[in-house]
Amino acid sequence: MANRWKNDLTRADATPYEAFLNRRQIMAGLGGAIGLGLSGVGSAAAASETAELEPNTWEEVTTYCNFYEFGTGKGDPAAYAGQMTTSPWSVEIDGLVDRPGSYSMEQILEAMTLEERIYRFRCVEAWSMVIPWQGFELADLLDLAGVQSEAKYVAFETLYRPSEMPGTAYRVLDWPYREGLRLDEARHPLTIMATGIFDKPLPNQNGAPLRLVVPWKYGFKSIKSVVRITLTDQEPHASWNVANPREYGFYSNVNPNVSHPRWSQASERRIGGGLFARRQPTTMFNGYADEVASLYEGMDLAKFF
Ligand code: MTE
Repeated sequence: MANRWKNDLTRADATPYEAFLNRRQIMAGLGGAIGLGLSGVGSAAAASETAELEPNTWEEVTTYCNFYEFGTGKGDPAAYAGQMTTSPWSVEIDGLVDRPGSYSMEQILEAMTLEERIYRFRCVEAWSMVIPWQGFELADLLDLAGVQSEAKYVAFETLYRPSEMPGTAYRVLDWPYREGLRLDEARHPLTIMATGIFDKPLPNQNGAPLRLVVPWKYGFKSIKSVVRITLTDQEPHASWNVANPREYGFYSNVNPNVSHPRWSQASERRIGGGLFARRQPTTMFNGYADEVASLYEGMDLAKFF
């Protein structure tokens, strides 16, 4: 896969994961920190960029999670999401589309081309990770259904199955979990539907079998275990935005200059950095400004936060 986006190096651009792991173990043994080994990309700038994109560990990505349908503790999803049935799975695609209907996971996977994207991931709670996703561009799935010209937004819905989701017994949110994007955000090439991490199928706690990933927005926009995608001309209901519009905007683009009412967003704690690691500065659009800033030209980002 060609490296079309400077911030989404693919595994093909980097050392194969097993080799990377081995090297990391070796380097750890030597007491050194390394970035991803690069094959064919030689510049110092590229090297420092990829060093910053060194993925978190499998352990970190799969045990430090937010998936409130299974509880609000960071370890709850890993402990309880195993009971969610993810096969068979289908996604209802409806609203302003030419080919509405129930698309099975098999149908979707057959039609889509999977690729790897290594993205920074920044939670609104001011922690961050780097995650190697596998998935496909949401735009390709939207094209499969055929988006009609009146559509302006895309709405998403997570599975709501109380018998398998102990966290839904608590009205923390108005279940099912819902999210939304403007159509141009949804169609942006950085926006993917993930089916895997670390070359393995997505674990349930990370949103199996299919979850949204929008790397320039706070993590809560990246809705998990999606069962419905609706094309609409109205701004969609977004769970956190509706629960507390003062704290969670519909856009929720990562922005170090706009504080959350209860904490600053200027810096973040990189998971895995160790207890005493220094916080790192948060970057505009989570480092994807070159690619996405034009989507918001002319908008007051303090108002449309
Ligand atoms: N999707 C659903 N259905 N339920 C959730 O509670 N949490 C969101 C998002 N998607 C959430 C969700 C939040 S707050 C974050 S930070 C990310 O998932 C966390 O993704 P991860 O656990 O895979 O890192």
